[in-house]
Parts: sequence; C-alpha cells; structure tokens
Amino acid sequence: MDKNIILVGLMGAGKSTIGRYLAKQLNKEFLDTDRVIEERTGVDIATIFEIEGEQGFRDREEQIIKELCQLENIVLATGGGSILREENRKNMKEHGHVVYLCTTAELLYSRIRFDKSRPLMQTKSPLTTLRNLLNDREPFYKEVADTVIMTGKQKAAVIVKRVEQAI
Ligand code: S3P
Repeated sequence: MDKNIILVGLMGAGKSTIGRYLAKQLNKEFLDTDRVIEERTGVDIATIFEIEGEQGFRDREEQIIKELCQLENIVLATGGGSILREENRKNMKEHGHVVYLCTTAELLYSRIRFDKSRPLMQTKSPLTTLRNLLNDREPFYKEVADTVIMTGKQKAAVIVKRVEQAI
C-alpha cells in the first residue's frame, strides 16, 4: 500500500515515536513537519515563534503540509496545532489516512512537563494549558481523523499494531 499515513494529536501524544516505528513496519519514509521546518529555516521552532509569532509559524506549517502531502508512501507526524487551519485538514484528508493519537491531558503533561522546546507550554500552568488546548482542538482532531486510537500508557509496539489493523 503506497498511501500516506498522517498522524495528528496534541504535543506529547507520541506522533514522532509511533510514526517512526510505523514507517519502519510499513516500509514507508517517515517525515515530521516540525523537523522539516527546522531543517529548512536552520532554527528551532521556539526561535520561529519568537521572531515571527505563532501566525508566522502557522504560515510555514501550512506551506510544508501542503508540500509534504503531495508525496507518496510516507508517514507524516504533524505539529499538534496543524489541524487548526481548514486548509491543512483538507490537504491531510485528501492525501492520506489520518490517525488521531488520543490521550488525556494528564498523561501528556507527565511526558512533556520538563520540555522547554515547545513554546505553547511555557506558561504558569502547563497542565491547564494542555487541558484547554485539548478541549479547543478535540473537535478538529475528530473531524479530520479517519481513525482514532486511544493510546493511554500502552507500549509503542501495541499502538503501532493497532494502527496497522485500522488502516
Ligand atoms: C504545537 C505543537 C508542536 C509545534 C509547535 C506548536 C501546537 O508540535 O508544532 O510547538 O500548537 O500544539 P508537537 O505536537 O510535535 O509537539
């Protein structure tokens, strides 16, 4: 099968870990929108937010998603906020099977609370921020997804198997 698999979900949902594993299993190339943006610009995501603001980052993200969705036979991990733009959701749906890796704000928090690389998490109460983001974004994740996988604390191998069965 040369269809693209596109992973969506909040920060810390495991899109990169699961995506890399899945790509290996399915013999596809793995790409991550954030990493491609960093390679192209030569700076990290936090720096892009600092210099260009969130909208500047979202414009770059939209451009990259449009471009990468044209490829074939890839597993694509997308940034957690990429589903906010309708254009991105449209491109994802048109060019791949979209999998939403779904879990609780508490579990996400336990994974990324010490991570300084995510600008949206640099708040006084990151757990509240995550809860709010999940609340605001969940309808978009569900709208765009062909498959929803509840991940919980399961091992990557188990989640990958469930994705394989679902696609
Ligand atoms: C963001 C998630 C990040 C990155 C940026 C914004 C978001 O990607 O794109 O910091 O809006 O949720 P990950 O989901 O890979 O952490």
